[in-house]
Amino acid sequence: MGTWKRHIQELKKEFHVTEAAHMAALFQRTMVDGLAGKKTSLKMLPSFLSVPTGRETGKYLALDFGGTNIRVMQVELLGNGEISILGQRSSPLRHPQGLYDYSAAGSTATELFDFIADLIHDLVDPGDTYALGHTFSFPIQQTDANNAVLLCWTKEIRTQGVEGKNVTQILSSALERKGLTNVVPQAVINDTVGCLLTAAYQYPGADIGSICGTGHNTAYFESNGPMIINLEAGNYDLISGTGYDERLDCMSERPGTQKLEKMISGRYLGEIARLILHDLADKGLFREHAAVQRMLATAACIGAEDLACMLNDTSPDLSGIADLLRIKLHLAETLREERIAIKEIAHMLVIRSACLAAATYCGILQHIDPDLRRTHVIAVDGSLFEKMPGYAATIRIALEQGLGDKAGRVRTVLSKSGSGIGAAIAAAVVGKSGD
Ligand code: BGC
Repeated sequence: MGTWKRHIQELKKEFHVTEAAHMAALFQRTMVDGLAGKKTSLKMLPSFLSVPTGRETGKYLALDFGGTNIRVMQVELLGNGEISILGQRSSPLRHPQGLYDYSAAGSTATELFDFIADLIHDLVDPGDTYALGHTFSFPIQQTDANNAVLLCWTKEIRTQGVEGKNVTQILSSALERKGLTNVVPQAVINDTVGCLLTAAYQYPGADIGSICGTGHNTAYFESNGPMIINLEAGNYDLISGTGYDERLDCMSERPGTQKLEKMISGRYLGEIARLILHDLADKGLFREHAAVQRMLATAACIGAEDLACMLNDTSPDLSGIADLLRIKLHLAETLREERIAIKEIAHMLVIRSACLAAATYCGILQHIDPDLRRTHVIAVDGSLFEKMPGYAATIRIALEQGLGDKAGRVRTVLSKSGSGIGAAIAAAVVGKSGD
């Protein structure tokens, strides 16, 4: 057997999710422990919000802060499950040409939230009053629906002065500095909660909301509350990774945390691919192995969007991958068999990510409805689910394997922008419009 083939086969074995049913059961038990207040890696954070009726109405501002972009939308809820986006502004957190980076350790809470207030300022009319919902896509400990303390940054964000602070207070001060006293924060939510709120507004039966994007996490409706609970599933750690996962963790901003997220989410998938390819270059597998080693020495030089691009290349000689490697990594000379191997690695990582996410969904379903007596909708938002070739289909297949003949009772839907729109619904639920 060719050397490449043998290495790829070994890698596939290492990255294969073998015990999905066991993982689902353990995940479910960990949820129960977390709910009972035991110290577990699932934070089980209360949202102080229930699901909407779908009859909520009115115009709201929705602020979506996820870690990559900041988006402000003016959202109208029409009361029959319909939603209309009346206007929006968005901006990246890091300037593409490096003019600013509000996610870096050198930036402060004041700078970040002044930037957010500027975006809001651009969208609102000074003569109108606005109720604002805020999607803040990080682990937040809430004391009520409108007050939340950031427990810790994730997704490699390092902005100073936000951890341990009430994010609604920081936002309110920034709005005040900008003279935006007509914008009144009403609710703050995690993005998974937003995703679930939007789906529940549109589809009866939606009870799980999840993000498979830059980060990973899931929320569900806990009937013994009753309220939506943010699991912070990305921090789940009763799972064994490969040596590459361990190396990635060691090199990350916070080693030992967000173990599952580091195996699932888009922020890290390209980085695992880089570590694998670098290792294969160290073993001398690439014809130009020294050039590959040099090019792959820089952290984060491969992103999830590059993996998507590789998987989209169906040309016989993988010329799309050749172009990508040439333009992005300056690797002019790659062989076809090398490109085939690279594509297989991308595929393997994407499949593992989707299978792990699906196993956690099976665990949550076991908790809320062990015999699947009811129908369920799992709403997912995020770039992986929306854009990564094969991702949504693999989640579906894994759910069918995990749930057996009752899998038909569980639907998975893309909730595009649901995480941000959910902030408007949260503001409406808190204001009790349409009850
Ligand atoms: C955060 C979660 C968030 C997820 C998806 C994770 O890094 O900890 O709070 O829901 O990313 O954005």
